[in-house]
Amino acid sequence: MRLKIVAGNWKMNNTINEAQTLIIKTLQQSPKIGANQLTIFAVPFPFLYTASNFVKEKSQFAVAAQNCSSYAKGAFTGEVSATMLASLGIPFCLVGHSERRTIFNENAEVLIEKMKQLLKNRIRPIWCCGENLEQRNTNAHFEVIAAQLKAELFTLDKEEFKNVIIAYEPIWAIGTGLTASATQAQEMHQFIRNEIAINYDLEVANQTTILYGGSCNAENAKELFSLADVDGGLIGGASLQPESFVKLISSMHELH
Ligand code: 13P
Repeated sequence: MRLKIVAGNWKMNNTINEAQTLIIKTLQQSPKIGANQLTIFAVPFPFLYTASNFVKEKSQFAVAAQNCSSYAKGAFTGEVSATMLASLGIPFCLVGHSERRTIFNENAEVLIEKMKQLLKNRIRPIWCCGENLEQRNTNAHFEVIAAQLKAELFTLDKEEFKNVIIAYEPIWAIGTGLTASATQAQEMHQFIRNEIAINYDLEVANQTTILYGGSCNAENAKELFSLADVDGGLIGGASLQPESFVKLISSMHELH
């Protein structure tokens, strides 16, 4: 069975005190989920060490970084390497979130290097893709996602690819309150899985965890998480309050 994940992407939010409270309350209030389910806190760099200590020996929780350097080490002031993340025991890292692509101009070349650095350090990339509103409105969304897959993910060989988690996050749904409909989410997730089957094989495609992100909240999560090819969510705003994040975790728990 595929790994099901509810991941909170805090983005650039919270102080250390707020971070601790959010993690403690989430740990206290979460239901006991199954062995094929995981809750991830994707926290800013300064909180990684503390967050990791909170989830230590709690198998249903893990911590992710939100970014890493495309370089291995050296004179790169302000950068954080995958090796540093690995030395903290961080098992996951987001790569290619649309905010990194659009605000920080990260392109395919840089994102491939980041994935290589992570994989070399045995950290699983959570690779994000998604089309913007204009691309959706002109019916170019499948083409856009196919191109992102081909230019970035499918440069990995099969053994490397098996470590990747995918997050489909339509840009028009991020932070807007507009969510992809069940039909839109399912057809895109199915499309991505099919592309994986064509590029690698059916077994790999069936094992790949594909998350949905974009205004996913306690109200709409159950419908989205119940879709055949949606294996959970990458949650922004609704992961910042323990009440709503725990509801999202519970929605997944009740379905699987
Ligand atoms: P929102 O849930 O706030 O729309 O953000 C989604 C997102 O970007 C998660 O990575």
